[in-house]
Amino acid sequence: MKKIQAIRGMHDILPEETARWRYLEATVRRVFQRYGYREIRTPILEMTELFKRSIGEVTDIVEKEMYTFEDRNGDSLTLRPEGTAGCVRACLEHGLLHNQVQRLWYQGPMFRHERPQKGRYRQFHQIGLEAFGMAGPDIDLEVILITARLWHELGIQGLELQLNTLGTPEERHRYRAALVDYLRRNESALDEDSRRRMESNPLRVLDSKNPAMAEVIAGAPSLMEYLEEESRQHFEWITRGLVEAGVEYVVNPRLVRGLDYYSRTVFEWVTDRLGAQGTVCAGGRYDGLVEQLGGRPTPAIGFALGIERLVALLEAMEKETVEDDRPHAYLVLVGEAASEKGLVLAERLRHRLPDLKLQVNCGGGSFKSQFRRADRSGARVALILGEAELANGTVGLKWLREDREQEQVDQESLANRLQQITGE
Ligand code: HAM
Repeated sequence: MKKIQAIRGMHDILPEETARWRYLEATVRRVFQRYGYREIRTPILEMTELFKRSIGEVTDIVEKEMYTFEDRNGDSLTLRPEGTAGCVRACLEHGLLHNQVQRLWYQGPMFRHERPQKGRYRQFHQIGLEAFGMAGPDIDLEVILITARLWHELGIQGLELQLNTLGTPEERHRYRAALVDYLRRNESALDEDSRRRMESNPLRVLDSKNPAMAEVIAGAPSLMEYLEEESRQHFEWITRGLVEAGVEYVVNPRLVRGLDYYSRTVFEWVTDRLGAQGTVCAGGRYDGLVEQLGGRPTPAIGFALGIERLVALLEAMEKETVEDDRPHAYLVLVGEAASEKGLVLAERLRHRLPDLKLQVNCGGGSFKSQFRRADRSGARVALILGEAELANGTVGLKWLREDREQEQVDQESLANRLQQITGE
């Protein structure tokens, strides 16, 4: 029979790895809460139209990466390729943007049918944050400072903050004309993809990873030159704030992002330690999106970080993040009667000691094989309940990692003894 395996690009996260994920998730959650952001959870499936209208028809994601299918009603549904669109949709549906600001965050799996490679998967996980209703550069600065604090709290060094502004739609419109003009004049130097994009989405040409395109891209006009005073000041306010807060950055005029909804500030955090997929966190302002999805004009900004990439980075840095999930004690049960009494005793202990990690031997086994399991569990002590112990109301306590005398403890005082041990 053909073996059924996980889908290409979609990975199991095994018990040895989940501790690192939990560390990352818990740290991020704590930081977000400290800034007053609240969690929102939205469905993994949305109407396909939502992503077409928000991410943009002429983007890699919508053109070729979405998991889209018809459900039994004939509706076109798509597994979410990112979280911003669904977040905006939910806010509109529940009136969360009406005369108020919102600071929200979310996490979960996202799906893109990309070519799988290290750091790039078809199911991957993001934690994202979105702030609605604030037009000034102060919130841009806050959002970027949150990301900087994340790295600090996670103990990650050496990330580079790349920053750019895409201007307002009007500014971009004028820039676009100049860019298309330039690209037309240099059409012979463009690859096929860029030639196609030149008309439909010329800014994306700047984002081309094709080395043969580097020269023609370097010579292209810069959007900075097309900014009006207000956009310029918005950008300068942020860079000034970053300098004052001691957060280093580089302005990358070629940073255009792969989704169409952005305006003004965009940024990415990049590492050179993960190979080609070095962007661990990315985002920006998207002042037009809420209106585009049927709401009132509402300024917004946010970002998402890629959990797989950050976990890989923590691993590469050999950061000790693994919480101790070994049990304190392993209960060895010898004989039929002990098996039943053992589970009840264990419940009593767990009730008394909320922090106790106690693993009970289930499924029987010889004394020897139970001890082997106890040892493999990583427990510090084995508790032994056999016929003799049942008869005299005690439990044997044997040290598995230390050269210490075995003890015979009264069942009544076992909780106290275990409390001492876990506190040692
Ligand atoms: P994005 O740049 O498409 O932005 O994705 C954000 C991050 O998700 C990336 O920087 C990367 O770390 C991770 N990521 C993306 N695709 C993959 C993949 N195939 N495999 C592994 N990791 C991946 C967004 O999704 C926007 N919604 C961010 C945002 C929120 N902008 C404003 N608010």
